[in-house]
Amino acid sequence: MQRMEGLVERNITKWMNKLDTDFVEPKKPLDFAVWGTFLSYDTITDVGFRTPLGFVDTGTDVDNLIRIFQAGMRLLGAVGRVYTIFDVLTHPRLKRYFQVSPEQNIWFGGVMKRARQVLADRTKALEEGRVVKPEKGNDDYDFLQAFMDTRTPEGHVLDAETIQSEIFVILGAGSDGFGSSSSALFAEILSRPTTYTRVVEELRTAVQSSQITHPIPTYTEVAKSLPFFCACIREAMRLHPLASTLLPRVLTPLDPEIVINGRRIPTGIELAANPWISHRDKAVYGPDAEEFKPERWLADPTKAKELEKYNLIWGTGSRVCLGKHFAMMMLYKAPVALLMAYDVRLCRETPQTPKPWSRMNGPARLWHDVWINLTKREPWVGGREEQTKDTEGMGNDAAAAAVEST
Ligand code: HEM
Repeated sequence: MQRMEGLVERNITKWMNKLDTDFVEPKKPLDFAVWGTFLSYDTITDVGFRTPLGFVDTGTDVDNLIRIFQAGMRLLGAVGRVYTIFDVLTHPRLKRYFQVSPEQNIWFGGVMKRARQVLADRTKALEEGRVVKPEKGNDDYDFLQAFMDTRTPEGHVLDAETIQSEIFVILGAGSDGFGSSSSALFAEILSRPTTYTRVVEELRTAVQSSQITHPIPTYTEVAKSLPFFCACIREAMRLHPLASTLLPRVLTPLDPEIVINGRRIPTGIELAANPWISHRDKAVYGPDAEEFKPERWLADPTKAKELEKYNLIWGTGSRVCLGKHFAMMMLYKAPVALLMAYDVRLCRETPQTPKPWSRMNGPARLWHDVWINLTKREPWVGGREEQTKDTEGMGNDAAAAAVEST
């Protein structure tokens, strides 16, 4: 995780420089829902295979990857929920039209094509000696090299299709989450002046007492020094979970017995919970379950633990999100860096800058029109500078533990 932190910072810095030149200096509003997603895609592709795809540099949806991916997610939403559609699309006669392949330009095909290119580029660069093979444990060892180094139980390398699918998972699973969750955060805190002021004051105090590195905080610093900000993230993700959809599981004989309303559920049955609904359960969160109240996470640590138990932000059990710690790192670092550098305001509602809204895109909730204005802040005196950054001697496990409760 700590090795990834440097890469995350490199991408946040580039992103903020771009926001400076394209929006802050010319005093133009920007849609955070779009620019948060650009940051996310570039960072994930940098961490995944050292090739940021250039969403931030170009300020565009490179090769329409985001559009294609999101269109694929809509189909996936239907296929994953209505099993009859799945049966039809996977029928031997129709399968070839719908199977995801790099040859298609629709659905996920365009993303698969990019995955194939990423693998081909790395293989060629290694063969031609243009890059030195990254070694495990070194800073440049990325997910792609890990996939290329993986061996089957029989000792064979993974075939190209399997590696492409793994790259596809990184491109797909990892990309919309940060954009969606950080948009929810900004939509909630910026529409509540008291909450925004409290977030900024907490941050200012932490900077002035040198608890937070300037201009980009470490993951651990945010977890330790900004409890109210962290509670805002938790609360925004509670009310607007990325996967506001059913998360199905088939009950196996190995699972513990499940009894619902006095009825024992037999094995082989599919069970599912929807985070959107369970996160609004008044029996768990109280009569104000529908309201944005970050304070609920701070009042009593025992109660907060109890709420956590029922939280499905990252899913649960064996299918829990594998990118959770990386995503949390992004969510802790990028919004705080933005709030430290700028006064962030939601734009007045106009036809050009409508108010934020979200809707389901297949299984994922996506945000739109999170229009904000950024104004440069005078630096807060007392901040600790980048070069004196200190992770308090916390290793990966401790850093992860600091956010485990999030
Ligand atoms: C704020 C960001 C994110 C949120 C809210 C989120 C949420 C989720 C949720 C709810 C699931 C389903 C879990 C279940 O079925 O119980 C999931 C699965 C997954 N996520 Fe994330 N995710 C985020 C970011 C990421 C990132 C950045 C990556 C990778 C770099 C990632 C990789 C995955 C993978 C591989 C799975 C499938 C796990 C499995 O089925 O074994 N996610 N995520």
